[in-house]
Amino acid sequence: MQKRRYLEQSIKETFEKFGYKEIQTPTFETLELFTAKSGEGIIDELYSFTDKGGREIALRPELTAPVIRMYVEKLQMEPKPLKLFYFGNCFRYDRPQKGRYREFKQAGCEIIGSDTPEAYAELIAMAYKILKNAGLKNIQLNIGNLNILSSMFKNLKLSEDKQKYLIPLIDKALFEDVYDALTEFKINPKDATNFLEMLQTDDINKIIEYVKSDKSTLEEINKLKEILKILKNSFDVKDYNVKLSIVRGLDYYKGIVFEIEATNLGAEKQLCGGGAYELISLFGGKEFPTAGFAIGFDRSLIALETEKFVFPTQRIDAYVIPINEDTIEKSLEIANELRNNNLKADVDLMRRGVSKAMKYASSLNVKNAIIIGPDEIKNNSATVKDMDTGKQETVKIENLPKHIQG
Ligand code: HAM
Repeated sequence: MQKRRYLEQSIKETFEKFGYKEIQTPTFETLELFTAKSGEGIIDELYSFTDKGGREIALRPELTAPVIRMYVEKLQMEPKPLKLFYFGNCFRYDRPQKGRYREFKQAGCEIIGSDTPEAYAELIAMAYKILKNAGLKNIQLNIGNLNILSSMFKNLKLSEDKQKYLIPLIDKALFEDVYDALTEFKINPKDATNFLEMLQTDDINKIIEYVKSDKSTLEEINKLKEILKILKNSFDVKDYNVKLSIVRGLDYYKGIVFEIEATNLGAEKQLCGGGAYELISLFGGKEFPTAGFAIGFDRSLIALETEKFVFPTQRIDAYVIPINEDTIEKSLEIANELRNNNLKADVDLMRRGVSKAMKYASSLNVKNAIIIGPDEIKNNSATVKDMDTGKQETVKIENLPKHIQG
């Protein structure tokens, strides 16, 4: 839990640095909240049940739909942009493996009300900085755009059904299978090869060349270019890839999408996913632009551990050891006073010899041991041993808080 609390605190601090405010929604929602966009097919991937009142309920698989539901119910009048962040447990009826759990935790956010390039650049930069600030070194940011991808599909005159068949293959980067499928759909080899090249290139000028006949897509690409420029110039985020093969698994995305992966993890390496999406009007609210992302909390911890990140540990400032039963009361009093001075203090509660108590103190990695014997009480002082240096000193009891703080 110390590691988890460290990560949580670090993520929270970065969200707050960007002006986001925390929100919390319930663990379960109506099943309909999740089927509204994705259809009944999603039920297989959810934990859902009928409650005693006959209501169809689901444990939330993510928090975007719940946050937008809450926005529509309670927050529509708030000034824009509304910047919300959250931590929450999520549940997916998945096949568990390392980094993929049936219950896991997400840290995420949603921004409601702005679709300017600077809003998107800030969002992407924040996701990147959250992971960097937490201590991760080996991460890769990939940015795509679903509108550009769908215009590429249109170029090839692919029906919705065919697109639906291709998307999971593109998502898994199974490009040979994509090529085979395109051949089967009677797309000529040159067009299929071009399409695949566009999915894999990170050269935005090549993409512009490819879609230049389509004006609205060109606008979308220029916006993407602007976002990348701001990322580089204003946020100092330079090591990203443009990747049109980023399609995201969820059904509500539109336009810009992005993912961040841990380069040294295996199959479950995706730490963060997000983008622009539309849900407000589906839930009965007045449409505003929305975007957000979520970070897999458990996976990010695995990534930190894999990088051998040294998590900060909380050390006890002082361990007070009464030499005998006559000094127990004074020892408790001293510990009490240290705590009143905002220090972390513990007292030996086992009535054991000093050497055993010292051994225990050193196993707790405490900073100081404070030994209280009858002589010390007589002189109104204590013996303080700095456990890191081994240095031992006699300190007046009233000076103990200052000494330990120093
Ligand atoms: P997602 O990509 O489904 O997006 O999940 C976000 C992150 O949660 C993933 O990148 C991954 O790290 C983690 N994750 C997903 N499934 C599991 C699992 N079974 N076990 C452990 N970790 C997992 C969303 O959920 C969107 N709501 C993100 C978003 C927010 N888009 C816009 N706003």
